[in-house]
Amino acid sequence: MLKELWQYVSSSTSLPLAKEMGFLKEAIAMEARAKRCQQSWGGHYQSCQKAILTASQRAVQKRTVLIFGAGSLHDIPLGILSAQFERVLLVDLVFLNSAKALAEQFDNIELIEHDVTESLVTIQNGQLFVERPMAWLDDTTIDLVVSLNLITQLPLIPVRWVMEHFEVSEIEGDILGKQLILAHLLYLKAFKGEVCLIADREGVESDATGKVLDCFDPWWDIEPPKAVNEWFWTLIPLGEVDKHTSQTNCVGVSFL
Ligand SMILES: C[S@@+](CC[C@H](N)C(=O)[O-])C[C@H]1O[C@@H](n2cnc3c(N)ncnc32)[C@H](O)[C@@H]1O
Repeated sequence: MLKELWQYVSSSTSLPLAKEMGFLKEAIAMEARAKRCQQSWGGHYQSCQKAILTASQRAVQKRTVLIFGAGSLHDIPLGILSAQFERVLLVDLVFLNSAKALAEQFDNIELIEHDVTESLVTIQNGQLFVERPMAWLDDTTIDLVVSLNLITQLPLIPVRWVMEHFEVSEIEGDILGKQLILAHLLYLKAFKGEVCLIADREGVESDATGKVLDCFDPWWDIEPPKAVNEWFWTLIPLGEVDKHTSQTNCVGVSFL
């Protein structure tokens, strides 16, 4: 807990809203959870890395690879991408010092703190308006784009923010969540290079005996693109949050 507090105070972010809206706090909590859950998260990270390498094989040229939702970088095959591509651009709202240290080992890997929705400044002010993201669409050197465990996360903090800070109803929050997911899908489809989407498809909460207690749709009722490959990720193993429940997500890979 003290370590996490220190991390929070000592982390620098180029986007003030990442701290103000709670993304930095979330990134620190996720890093701590990843350490505690190494065993159950390791297989998921490996599957993500394999999926990215498969996507890389599909890219006709290997000038620039652009990865959205890079976060901790643990689910990215950094060494291989760095060797294969001229430029590796890793995008997230916030990068912790551990990710910065990993990326520094490679000359052609760049970390970019950027809001992929291009809407958070507006949403932070309580306006329920989702922009059409444009960044990098005119970069003709981008041969591969990966959206990495990001799309279903896009609504979570913004919707909670507007509901807590402004008089926004559940229905309005729900519409905002759907718009953020749809806008990201359309954004990905607008790229000319190969596009790979890695995202959870379903969440299942179970009790200690394995009996299913609840299933939920992380896509806010939006139809996800067809997955060509899937695996299970025990995001919350038994004992992580409490002794009685666990959560396993089905993660899928699509090519757009
Ligand atoms: C589930 S995490 C996955 C991160 C990384 N792939 C990993 O496993 O460590 C989702 C990531 O999306 C990032 N994120 C959420 N909203 C974002 C936004 N609007 N723009 C850029 N990144 C965002 C978060 O900061 C977080 O790192």
